[in-house]
Amino acid sequence: RKNVVVAIDGYSSCGKSTLAKALAKKLGFIYIDSGAMYRAVTLYFIRNHTNVSDEAAVIDALQHIELNFHSRDYESHITLNGEEVSEEIRQMPVSETVSEISALKQVRKEMVKQQQRMGKSKNIVMDGRDIGTTVFPDAQVKLFMTADPKVRAERRFKELQSKGDTTTSLEDVFENLAHRDYADTTRKESPLVRAEDAIILDNTEITPVEQLEFALNKVTPFI
Ligand code: C5P
Repeated sequence: RKNVVVAIDGYSSCGKSTLAKALAKKLGFIYIDSGAMYRAVTLYFIRNHTNVSDEAAVIDALQHIELNFHSRDYESHITLNGEEVSEEIRQMPVSETVSEISALKQVRKEMVKQQQRMGKSKNIVMDGRDIGTTVFPDAQVKLFMTADPKVRAERRFKELQSKGDTTTSLEDVFENLAHRDYADTTRKESPLVRAEDAIILDNTEITPVEQLEFALNKVTPFI
């Protein structure tokens, strides 16, 4: 491929999007948050009481969903049928349901198709769970991120608090992460697994600046 694709996969809340955004900004690449797409689809399904065990209903719902990204200084903003939902998709009701929805074959098929289209001719950084394995198996650079689960829960907890969430406890966050990691790694359709050629990046003890430097060193040979 002529355009450069950087695939960043890994467990929930281990700083994938922080690194992906910083990297995209530094390189002038487009940042695409694939998790936001699964989250927005989940929000639509919740609002519309979509019966997820009915495949025809799922296919029909997907046809009524239009997702668009609009970038503001590399902060990823997503709209669901024209409505800005970036905040709402990060709240607990969506976090608690997203792994169930993202395990659906039809949902994955549609999202992967849209993601591949977005990365067809442009230089991109995309983060998620199956980017290096399924969406862009031919990505030039693949990173697989991980971090201590307690450290991850604390980071996400602080983030929720800074956004004014006073009802979710640290334990709730920890359990949600553990649940999503389990569901994401054990599902049938493209489970979260490290691509053979992905570089492992454990960021429990390294700073965002150090992670950026590490990733830049991997990408620069391709530009
Ligand atoms: O990245 P984020 O934590 O926002 O993703 C939310 C959920 O979306 C994940 O827990 C996973 O269930 C799903 N997801 C996925 N494949 C991706 C990105 C996210 O299944 N490429």
